[in-house]
Amino acid sequence: MKKPKQRSVQWFSRQDIYGFIYRSWTKNRGVPHDQFDGRPVIGICNTWSELTPCNTHFRVLAEHVRNGILEAGGFPLEFPVMSLGETLLRPTAMLYRNLASMDVEESIRGNPLDGVVLLAGCDKTTPATLMGAASIDLPTILVSGGPMLSGKYRGTDIGSGTNVWSMSEDLRAGKISLDEFHEAESCMHRSHGHCMTMGTASTMASMVEALGVGMPGNAAIPAVDARRNVLARMAGRRIVEMVKENLVLSKILTKPAFENAIRALGAIGGSTNAVIHLTAIARRIGVELGLDDFARAGRGVHTLVNLMPSGKYLMEDFYYAGGLPTVLRELGENNLLNRDSLTVNGKAIWDNVKDAPCWNRDVIFPFKKPFKENTGISVLRGNLAPDGAIIKPSAATPALMKHRGRAVVFESIEDFHRRIDDPNLDIDERCVMVLKNCGPKGYPGMAEVGNMPLPPKLLRKGVTDMVRISDARMSGTAYGTVVLHVCPEAAAGGTLALVENGDTIELDVTKGKLHLVVAEEILSKRRKAWKAPKPHLERGYWKLYHDHVLQSCDGADLDFLVGKSGAFVPRDNH
Ligand code: FES
Repeated sequence: MKKPKQRSVQWFSRQDIYGFIYRSWTKNRGVPHDQFDGRPVIGICNTWSELTPCNTHFRVLAEHVRNGILEAGGFPLEFPVMSLGETLLRPTAMLYRNLASMDVEESIRGNPLDGVVLLAGCDKTTPATLMGAASIDLPTILVSGGPMLSGKYRGTDIGSGTNVWSMSEDLRAGKISLDEFHEAESCMHRSHGHCMTMGTASTMASMVEALGVGMPGNAAIPAVDARRNVLARMAGRRIVEMVKENLVLSKILTKPAFENAIRALGAIGGSTNAVIHLTAIARRIGVELGLDDFARAGRGVHTLVNLMPSGKYLMEDFYYAGGLPTVLRELGENNLLNRDSLTVNGKAIWDNVKDAPCWNRDVIFPFKKPFKENTGISVLRGNLAPDGAIIKPSAATPALMKHRGRAVVFESIEDFHRRIDDPNLDIDERCVMVLKNCGPKGYPGMAEVGNMPLPPKLLRKGVTDMVRISDARMSGTAYGTVVLHVCPEAAAGGTLALVENGDTIELDVTKGKLHLVVAEEILSKRRKAWKAPKPHLERGYWKLYHDHVLQSCDGADLDFLVGKSGAFVPRDNH
């Protein structure tokens, strides 16, 4: 097969006025003329930002990628894209995931790039950059920023998010003082990197490795470990080779690769957010992926990794125990890995992991004696979620996985905050908490509020978990018997919008059932009376988002972004 010509020669190898312009302006920072000799031009797509605390070391990381590219004879060009910080950005970083992906896509397509290294860390930066790159389909490697070191507080390890939830509940229940709360703040995040629990960032870094779009070891090397910089440098070297081999993203992101990611997701007890992100990435590259694939491919997967929020350790421990290669080897030895899937280093995934050792069996359990059994992401359906909903059994209370209870309904997150602390709220531990209007359209952006805090009067009684149902998402660091992503969402007229206080709800995770015990005639009367909530803003990106966002079961992408347009620039007067 004839090797396609590199894109960059259409810019830098021209001997006309435009070649002059392209080269001359690029030379202004000291690039010598011999760099324009047709060598692969590699974009370093950087999500560095001080507004994204998890990505603030990316200038250094980019230098390591740059060194690798130069060592391999490539021409590095670094560029910034919109960065999404989970902690500071309001109303939720998820609102902007699709916008950031557009920035990535258009920045790559419009510029003289032959391949790209994506630098991502904080939750949404990974799917955003991968979605954008998938719609272009050039040779691509994603380098994750790596997790922070473990939090250390009064002699114990504390984890991002997970211990924030537990400590804020302790504070509300009067078990700890405000001074202790403040002290823990300073102890939790003490190095560069992203959340070091198995939250969404660590989950997505693991998905990158399981998909084969990151270098082996990508998931868990701590951000401040020298080996993270080595990985970045090796990625820089490797991307130059990938351009020469024309190893484009679509040769890596295949259906079997997504099945590997789904199984890895169950095995690491990963974040429920990955379901939405994997679906969106797959549909950009042209792979059909839906909730049924998660149910099918995830069947029989056990959680092997004893990490918060499902367990007790943190990402640093995970790396020292062997990291994701060990988990993938366990899956492969139990017929739960598509062994031939190609990865960015040019090898099949099995070749990368088949000899991976395990150094700590309390952190990574063997498949035959797992940490928790049959605990991938479970898909639920029923009249309350005709298009599906999900639950993460590894983070739930086993006794609540089959439950029937009285609904206590909150019409919005504001309604929830107004009433949850009211000592007169008519609720007990058998009730099912229902939250509406927090889906993709309803919030907007689908807030991480599905793990509603429990009422203080029940916390004081010692209640630690209740069944909670919503169209919202949940932070990957959160836990509880929490049914999420109910589809269609309330704001789109889903059955969730029709639930009233006192209705009975049945949950049966083993049977995949979520049922509202209300007669169809009553529901249709309620449906007729229902009115769609008004959009929050009628202009700008919020309007674009509201008018075009898909439901979470379809990846919550914008409808016109699904699929790819490739690297060709359709209109070009140069
Ligand atoms: Fe960035 Fe958790 S806040 S990964």
